[in-house]
Amino acid sequence: MIDPHLWWYVTRASAIIAWALMTASVLWGILLSTRVLRRIDSPAWLQDLHRYLGGAALVMVGLHMVSLMLDQWLKFSAVEVLVPFATDFKPLPVALGILAFYLLVAVQGSSLLMQRLPRRFWKILHYASYLTVLLVSFHAGFTGTDVGTWWYRAVAITLIGLTTVAVIVRMVTGTRSGRSRTPVVRSGATDVSVGEPAHVQEKRSMVVASVTTVADGVLGIRLEMHEWERLPLWQPGAHLTLHLPNGLQRQYSLCGDPAERNHYDIAVLHTRESAGGSAWIHKNLLPGMTVEVSGPQNHFALEPASEYLFVAGGIGITPIKAMIESLPAHRVWRLVYAGRSRSTMAFADELVARYPGRVRIHAGDESDAALNLAAIVTHGLPEAEVYACGPESLMTAVAALVPARHLHLERFVALLRVAPAAQPVLVTCRKSRQDVLVPAGQSILTALEERGLPVLGSCRTGVCGTCELRVLAGTPQHLDSVMDDAEKDRLRIIYPCVSRASTSTLVLDV
Ligand code: FES
Repeated sequence: MIDPHLWWYVTRASAIIAWALMTASVLWGILLSTRVLRRIDSPAWLQDLHRYLGGAALVMVGLHMVSLMLDQWLKFSAVEVLVPFATDFKPLPVALGILAFYLLVAVQGSSLLMQRLPRRFWKILHYASYLTVLLVSFHAGFTGTDVGTWWYRAVAITLIGLTTVAVIVRMVTGTRSGRSRTPVVRSGATDVSVGEPAHVQEKRSMVVASVTTVADGVLGIRLEMHEWERLPLWQPGAHLTLHLPNGLQRQYSLCGDPAERNHYDIAVLHTRESAGGSAWIHKNLLPGMTVEVSGPQNHFALEPASEYLFVAGGIGITPIKAMIESLPAHRVWRLVYAGRSRSTMAFADELVARYPGRVRIHAGDESDAALNLAAIVTHGLPEAEVYACGPESLMTAVAALVPARHLHLERFVALLRVAPAAQPVLVTCRKSRQDVLVPAGQSILTALEERGLPVLGSCRTGVCGTCELRVLAGTPQHLDSVMDDAEKDRLRIIYPCVSRASTSTLVLDV
C-alpha cells in the first residue's frame, strides 16, 4: 500500500535537493569565473557540470511543484503553484518561490541559447542566478513544515553560508575575469596528438563574427558557428586550420579562453612574405563571411608544472596568451615577450596591465640593448618548464639555453634538418590494405595521396602537424619540426610530408 504521505515526502525532499543543487551550481559558476578551480587544462567539463547542476535543480523544482499539487493535504492548485499571491498559505514566501522558479527557467534558458543571445544580455540574465538563490533562501526559510527543526536549520545555515562565501570570493576576485578578452593566435610545434578525435579532421563552416585590429599588421578574428552548437573542446597551444577560398590552408593558434565553447578566437599577422594566406585574410575577410575550419589540433600542449617561463616573439604570443589565460591565479609564471616595436606586439599592453610584475616586454623601438635571454633563463625560474613560440632566431636562442627536458617549442618555419640520401620505402597501409612503393624522390604523403588514400596535408614542410599518421611497424626517420623525435617515437607517429623511414618498409595506420 502506498504511503499517503508519499507526495509530502517528495515535495520536501525535492525542495531541499533543488536548493542544494542551485547553491552548488552558483558556487561552481563562481569558482569557474574566478578561476579558483581552473587547472592548466580546459575547464570546459567544469562548465558542463555547472550547467547540469542548474538543469537538475530546475527538474527538482518542477517535481516540487507537481508534488505540491498531488499531496492530499496541501492540495495546491496549478494556479496557486504558478501565480504569485494566488494562495492564502504564506502568500509572500510562496510568491518568492514562484518568482525564483521563473528566474531559474530564464537562467537555464539563457544557458541553452547562449550563442544566440547578445553576450551582454546573457550575462545580465545569468547574474540573476544570485537573485534566484536569494529568493529560494527566503522561500525555504519561511515555508515548509520542516522550518524550525534542527536539521533544517543546519541545512539552511550551510547553504546560505556557502552562497555568502562564494559571493564574497566573486566580489573580491571578480575584476580579473570581468575584464575584456580581446580576440586573439599562431602556427608551429610539441606534444600529444595521437588519437585526436574525429572533429580534428572534419571541416565545419564557421561565421566570421568580428574582425578587429589588435596590433599593427595583426587582425583579431572571432569565429562562430552558423547554428547553435557547442564547439569541440580545446586546450591551450591548440590551433585551427583555416581552409581559405583561394585553396590555401593555414594554421592559427587559438588564443581565447578554452572555457568559451561558442566561439574561437585567432589572430593573424600579415606576413611580408605571405604566399597568399595571411595576405588573403587581411584583404578579404569580413564579418559575416563563412570560412571552412578544421581542428582544433594540439602539438604544443601545456603540461602540468609548478613554474613556467613563457617566451614569445611577435605573433608567437598567441598560443602563449591562451596558456597564460588558462593558469590558476596562484601558479608561478613569467612571460618574456619580444617584438620589433610595441605597436606591432599584439596584446602587449593588455598583458602588462592584467599581470603586473609577471610580464616583461622587450620592444625593439624602446630599447637599444639586446634581450638578455641568458640572464632571464638562468636567474629567473631555473626549474621552470619553458614554453616558447616565435621566430626561428628566438627559438634557437632559447633552445641553446634550456635543457631539452624543460623545453617546449612551437616553430613557424621548418628546421633545416640534414637528411641522409632518401631511399625508396614500401609503405603498407593497414586499414586500406594497400602497399605503396614510395620512390626516393617523392614524399610518402604525396605517394599516398596519388593512390587516393585518406590522408591530409597542409604545410608540407613538417611544421603544422596536419599529416600525422600512426606507425604500426617499421622505424620512421623523422625530418619534421613538429615535436621532439623521442616524443614522436614514444607516440609512434610520423609526419609523412617530409619524414621517411630508416627501414625498407613502414606499416601505417591508414
Ligand atoms: S606537417 Fe604539415 S603537412 Fe605534414
